[in-house]
Amino acid sequence: MARRLSGLILGTGCMAMALSAALAQTPPAPPLKPPSEFQSIADKAERSRAIFTEVGRVLTHPRCMNCHPAGDHPLQGADHHEHRPAVWRNDTGHFGTPCGECHTEKNVTLHEAAGYKSIPGHPRWGVAPLEMAWEGKTLGDICRQLKDTARNGGRDLALLQEHVAKDDLVAWGWSPGDGREPAPGTQEAAGELVQAWIDSGAECPR
Ligand code: HEC
Ligand code: HEC
Repeated sequence: MARRLSGLILGTGCMAMALSAALAQTPPAPPLKPPSEFQSIADKAERSRAIFTEVGRVLTHPRCMNCHPAGDHPLQGADHHEHRPAVWRNDTGHFGTPCGECHTEKNVTLHEAAGYKSIPGHPRWGVAPLEMAWEGKTLGDICRQLKDTARNGGRDLALLQEHVAKDDLVAWGWSPGDGREPAPGTQEAAGELVQAWIDSGAECPR
């Protein structure tokens, strides 16, 4: 901080640098609380809802939400803006540029100035189907939808937990490439919370 302040005093050029350094150093979100931190909630259903609310910090994070949009387009950035250039989910009847034209099998760091520092990548890069949309929904609605096998890809609770804990596309949320804030905590911690939520009755916030 002291160094940043002296940078500010040195002049406008340094000021711009100091400011961008400050932006780049926005402290990461606090880690996920472990299940043990919820043990003090005596009422089991209430405990389950509280645990899901913690899981919700991951689900509603831009790294996850941007691929689970409610509209026709995936989203980008911390502010969830519509994807630039415009691309569409598969089921809209639009045939835009396929994701894989720009998103390769792994993150690519850019060495030239662009509005972003890297292009995300994964072999299965694609927008989640509309029935798995989370954008604009309450945490309670997201929770009920996650449990609904008609809307979650036919997963029972065990498979849902495994997906969050082990899926390699979900894992991207914690390794999102240069210039993007990772989802809070770790994938392992998120998996443990989902297990604790199931063990306490898989109750949904109201
Ligand atoms: C013409 C190139 C291009 C195509 C085609 C494309 N993307 Fe992107 N996408 C990009 C670039 C470049 C970025 C990085 C920009 C940024 O992060 O601001 C990006 C970023 C994203 C992000 C943001 C990740 C985040 O967490 O902020 C998502 C999500 C995304 N794309 C989804 C998709 C999906 C799904 C498709 C296919 C339906 C697709 N993109 C097709 C170029 C493309
Ligand atoms: C690149 C886009 C993308 C990103 C990023 C992404 N997802 Fe998904 N997600 C998908 C797609 C596509 C599916 C559907 C495929 C499937 O069911 O296996 C899906 C399905 C899911 C499902 C299962 C079905 C349901 O009920 O929604 C869960 C749970 C899930 N994602 C969690 C996450 C979490 C947690 C994150 C962030 C850590 C995340 N996703 C990030 C694209 C993405």
